[in-house]
Amino acid sequence: MPAQPRPSGAEYAIEAEDLHRTYSLRTGWLRPRRTEVTAVRGISFQVRPGELFGLLGPNGAGKSTTIKMLNTLLLPTSGTARIHGHDVARDTSEVRRRIGYVFGGDRGLYERLSALDNLRYFAELYGVEPRVQRARIAELLERVSLNGRENERVEGYSRGMRQRLHIARGLLHDPDVLFLDEPSIGVDPVAARDLRETVADLRATGTTVLLTTHYMAEADELCDRIAVIAKGTLQAIGTPEELKSRVRTRDVLDIEVFGLDEARLAPLRALPGVLSATLEEGAGRQTLTVQSARGTDLHQRVLNALSGVRVGRVVSREPSLEDAYVAIVEEAGDRSAGDGPAAGEAPGARTAVAA
Ligand SMILES: Nc1ncnc2c1ncn2[C@@H]1O[C@H](COP(=O)(O)OP(=O)(O)O)[C@@H](O)[C@H]1O
Ligand SMILES: [Mg+2]
Repeated sequence: MPAQPRPSGAEYAIEAEDLHRTYSLRTGWLRPRRTEVTAVRGISFQVRPGELFGLLGPNGAGKSTTIKMLNTLLLPTSGTARIHGHDVARDTSEVRRRIGYVFGGDRGLYERLSALDNLRYFAELYGVEPRVQRARIAELLERVSLNGRENERVEGYSRGMRQRLHIARGLLHDPDVLFLDEPSIGVDPVAARDLRETVADLRATGTTVLLTTHYMAEADELCDRIAVIAKGTLQAIGTPEELKSRVRTRDVLDIEVFGLDEARLAPLRALPGVLSATLEEGAGRQTLTVQSARGTDLHQRVLNALSGVRVGRVVSREPSLEDAYVAIVEEAGDRSAGDGPAAGEAPGARTAVAA
């Protein structure tokens, strides 16, 4: 747990109570009609002050919609949410004072301005008192490790640097709660590690962080607790260890394969003892991960089922948070989980494929 949560009257920094959100869409041109998409169907959870809380789930699970209801960008269709006891729908301005919001991607910064001028601009916009601006900006530049680079134009910044600048922007008004929606999307592995350090450092300041990510290792390393959502509902909540304990009784095989077709997964999943089979497409390689009940020695049978496929290294390992995630999403029956990362996301982001 974090060392020194900020003092606050309320017991929880974030409370979501039976949140629902339906989008109404107009479709068709000749004969327009309304269709409804229910993105969030009854989500409840609480986050304690100072906690680093992860929201995980496949594309379209409802993570961003949930965050947007918590940070006042969207009104819930029903249900309530509070930030430090303030209702997001009724005390909107009080909530906004207490929160910061950073989303993945590069938009939202002024390319032709330096990082320093961007922060000065946003400090004005967010009403940061002029007499504290200088010190605040200097402190934030240091905190996100951009000190020394602050006079360079943002157009020359790497994705990771932009993302750290976004975090500094989100922290300008010293919020109690920071929402980070897929901050590491499209960021290279080294920059992603720096970004994780920046996020981990936030804890020392007592800031409550709600983070969504596609990267399980990131969630495992950073989060005190994790909620897994799929199809707009909460599927599991707990510490990374608690979630992993769900798959502790499983064996996991990682098999390097070349040119394996998704269609070949079905017969693998049908093998007795196989609990799931997922395929991760990495940069120039594929990894097939097969989960089975502990003690079922599937090694040979899986290799037989792969006859005709070029196979590289085969590794038997302990279940990871990612395996727990796959199992949870699979139980939710979210087949869309296999759609893979959306356009613009980094290769290697693994999403679950339901067995
Ligand atoms: N503005 C919108 N209008 C209509 N449908 C939307 C809108 N935003 C999201 N959705 C739909 O709501 C569902 C949840 O989306 P989202 O909350 O963005 O999921 P996630 O962030 O987990 O990928 C998806 O089916 C998505 O297509
Ligand atoms: Mg999203």
